[in-house]
Amino acid sequence: MRIGESEMTIEIGLVYDRIRWEEKQLLKAAQDREIKVKMVDSRKESVNLLSNYEEISETFGDPVLQRCISYFRGLHLTAILESKGVRVVNSFDVSLKCGNKLFTTLTLSKAGVPVPETMAAFTMDGVFKALNDLGYPAVLKPVVGSWGRLMAILKDKETTQAIIELREKINNALLQIYYVQKWVDRPPRDIRVVVVGDEVVAASYRYSPVDDWRTNVARGGKSEACPITPELEEVALKAAEAVGGGVLAVDCMESREKGLLVHEVNNTVEFRGLASTTNVDIAGKIIEYVAGVVKR
Ligand SMILES: Nc1ncnc2c1ncn2[C@@H]1O[C@H](COP(=O)(O)OP(=O)(O)O)[C@@H](O)[C@H]1O
Ligand SMILES: [Mg+2]
Repeated sequence: MRIGESEMTIEIGLVYDRIRWEEKQLLKAAQDREIKVKMVDSRKESVNLLSNYEEISETFGDPVLQRCISYFRGLHLTAILESKGVRVVNSFDVSLKCGNKLFTTLTLSKAGVPVPETMAAFTMDGVFKALNDLGYPAVLKPVVGSWGRLMAILKDKETTQAIIELREKINNALLQIYYVQKWVDRPPRDIRVVVVGDEVVAASYRYSPVDDWRTNVARGGKSEACPITPELEEVALKAAEAVGGGVLAVDCMESREKGLLVHEVNNTVEFRGLASTTNVDIAGKIIEYVAGVVKR
């Protein structure tokens, strides 16, 4: 739907590749508000790149809530939709920055958002040079990835060498971009803050499971209610604004040395763990924001 047609019925396109708990909540929230939703399974679509706005919006709706788990699938589909004039939450630009940890850190640091000390390297030698500055232990993360996958603690020279040797052998150019981060001394938890537009909607602590150092809910991390302090609100809003805004999960650690540090901004927000700690209708806030996009 175009601006100026706001009296017409909104039809949000919900583009997905797997229906998780979150997608069901989003669909229900839309139904509760009598907002029509077009569920689009991205795995089943083929898109003519030469088609026009009418054809594309007929299939995908407008505005579109992009919910693909696959980062590259979602990103490329968003590029197509936006180029045809469909409004997508989150936008291509936001998704590009948030989906790549190196781009996120650059963007946040440029905007003055506190981030962990991080270095980039492109070879084994480069990684050891970075470790000279950062010290052991350090954290090596894939620039594109989620759920804590392929992350490693670099504890000493020998394990670092083994991990980098392995990554050098894998035929995936992104795995030869080495994003090395200083280990952040923190409690065994991090904080997830969901920001929708210019509002901090909810926050939760995520505690790591006993046998893991990562706090990801996908790895068994447990969520607990977290108060939204003025400091947390300020950092989260600043981070969300820095990447371009939308529906975002700002993840931060409580470093003992420097206070809150933002280590990630997620652009396809998972909020199941967080939802269990709050009465806030997160899905409802997201749907209302997306529906409001056509009026902005
Ligand atoms: N520099 C760090 N120091 C200590 N713990 C970290 C550091 N970076 C990440 N972690 C832990 O690992 C988890 C996953 O890291 P994150 O950067 O969010 O990657 P992913 O995108 O895979 O979730 C974080 O939630 C946090 O608990
Ligand atoms: Mg994370």
